[in-house]
Amino acid sequence: MKVTVVGAGNVGATCAQMIAAKNIVQEVVLLDIKEGISEGKALDLWEASPINFYDTHLVGVTNDYSMTSDSEVVVITSGVPRKPGMSRDDLISINAGIVKNVTANVVKHSPKAKIIIVSNPLDVMTYVAYKTAKKPRNEVMGMAGILDTARYRAFIAEALDVSPRDIQALLMGGHGDTMVPLPRYTTVAGIPVTELIDEETLNAIVNRTKKGGGELVNLMGTSAWYAPGSAAAQMVEAIVMDQKRIFPCCVRLEGEYNLNEMFVGAPVKLGKNGVEQIIEVALNDDEKQLLIDSSKAVKSVMDIFDGMNIL
Ligand code: LAC
Repeated sequence: MKVTVVGAGNVGATCAQMIAAKNIVQEVVLLDIKEGISEGKALDLWEASPINFYDTHLVGVTNDYSMTSDSEVVVITSGVPRKPGMSRDDLISINAGIVKNVTANVVKHSPKAKIIIVSNPLDVMTYVAYKTAKKPRNEVMGMAGILDTARYRAFIAEALDVSPRDIQALLMGGHGDTMVPLPRYTTVAGIPVTELIDEETLNAIVNRTKKGGGELVNLMGTSAWYAPGSAAAQMVEAIVMDQKRIFPCCVRLEGEYNLNEMFVGAPVKLGKNGVEQIIEVALNDDEKQLLIDSSKAVKSVMDIFDGMNIL
C-alpha cells in the first residue's frame, strides 16, 4: 500500500516520518516542488529505517505526480506557513491556488485516494480540495481537530499532573481562534474534567488551546510541525488500518448540526472509506452558539475564496 505526502516542509516530513515509524504501509512518497528537498528527506528517513525498525520504503520526488499513482491516502501539506502577527486566514491568497493545483494533480493520478488537507486556512483549504477533487465528501477531509484536541489534552494533563493518554476530549468548529473545545465532552479516564478542574482554570486552558497555534508561531517565528505532522499520520493510520477510530476532523456538513455545505470540525469515524460516519452529539445553547460563531468565521473566508474565482 502506498501513501503520498505532498509538501516536504517541516509538517510534511514529520508526517512521513511518523507514518514510516508506524510500519503500516509499504511505501511513502514525499513530493515537493523544490528540487532535492523531498529526495533528501526521504533518503534520510529511509536510512533511519534500520535504526528505528521499519520496512516502509520512502521515495522523494520533485513534482512528479506519476510517482504518486494509486496512493491509498494523500496528505496535502503544501503552501506557506504563517509568521508572527498573521492569522491562518491571511494565507488564503497564496495557499488557495497551491492547494487547488496540488489536488488536481493528486486526483489525476490517484482517483480513489482519500485526501487529508493540512494546509491553512485549514477548513477553507478542505473546501478548495473538495471542490477541485469533485469526490464524495467522505474522501476529502481536513486535519485540525486531532491537533487542537491534542493541545487541549496536553494542557489538561499538565494541570492535573496525569498522563495525557488518559484525557479524552472533543472539539468542534473551525481551526482558528473561534474553535470550540467542549469541556462537557472531556473526561479524564472517564471522569468528567469539570469534576477535577475548576471553571477558571478550565477556561484558561480552553483559551490557551484556541491560541495554541499562535503561541508556537510566536515562539518559533513559523508554525508548528511535530503535533500537526503526528496528527495527520494518526488519520492515515486510522484509514489504512481501517480502525474506525473517532476523531474530530474537518468535514463537509450537509445538514448535520444544522449546518449545510459548511466545512468545519466535527466528530467522525475514520476507516478504510475515509469519513465513514459523522457523529452528532447534543449541544447546549451556549455550545450551539459557539459553533455558529465559528462557522460564520469559516464561511467568511470561504466567501473570500469564492470571490477569487480561481476554480
Ligand atoms: C497550527 C497550525 C499548523 O495550529 O495551524 O499549529
